[in-house]
Amino acid sequence: MSKVTVSKLLKMKEAGQKFASITAYDASFAALFDEVGMPVLLVGDSMGMVLQGHNDTLPVTVTDIAYHTRCVRAGATNSLVIADMPFMSYATKEQTLTNATILMQAGANMVKVEGGEWLVESVAALTERGIPVCGHLGLTPQSVHVFGGFKIQGRAPDKADEMVEHALLLQAAGIQLLVVECIPAPLAKRITEALTIPVIGIGAGRDTDGQILVMHDAFGISKGFIPKFSKNFLAETGDMRKAISAYIDEVAAQTFPADEHMFS
Ligand code: KIV
Ligand code: NA
Repeated sequence: MSKVTVSKLLKMKEAGQKFASITAYDASFAALFDEVGMPVLLVGDSMGMVLQGHNDTLPVTVTDIAYHTRCVRAGATNSLVIADMPFMSYATKEQTLTNATILMQAGANMVKVEGGEWLVESVAALTERGIPVCGHLGLTPQSVHVFGGFKIQGRAPDKADEMVEHALLLQAAGIQLLVVECIPAPLAKRITEALTIPVIGIGAGRDTDGQILVMHDAFGISKGFIPKFSKNFLAETGDMRKAISAYIDEVAAQTFPADEHMFS
């Protein structure tokens, strides 16, 4: 795999080639993922749950993400590395610029922020200054206490329309990738078709341009339960490299996610 850039992902979208991505938090897994050809690695604030053992992502700090971004960067040669901006680290434009700088200097190629229209100004400010941004709509886990739980989003027609509108506003502001999480498959398809940038889904059906999984879910080792939208690829293959290759291949063939992994 040659160096992965946003332009390469855009070409894949245009060619209708579906791509996989996965979270990574350390150099060893990042190297393994990179070796088997995983184009995108996300240093996710899901680390609050899968690494730190919390019930949500809110306790994660910029220092935590920067540390793990340095670890992932050390292991990943060609994968595009996205670093999550954690809870309240992008509440104001000034904070956003300061904290995104720390994550880029830790080795990220792009930062990811959760939310819609309210982020337009920050997204434009980052992009204008040379920091590429990935958006995140739908079930945005940093807002779990506003949602009243980890619940599927965008089911009501007005909420679905609003999400499409916010996706377009973020794209106009400069985001170069968008993650959509736990939304009905038809809404994810609509957003993917409405946007010119690649859209990556998790619990969002098989019509998005890319898929993402939390690595612990893909290996079936998450504490508690495996989400409906995830799959234990290790159980089928018995080997971590083969598991990740199977995930990449099944996304490309559009056999993952299957009907049982999506919300209608
Ligand atoms: O933190 C994370 O792992 C994420 C993905 C689930 C998209 O944001
Ligand atoms: Na996240």
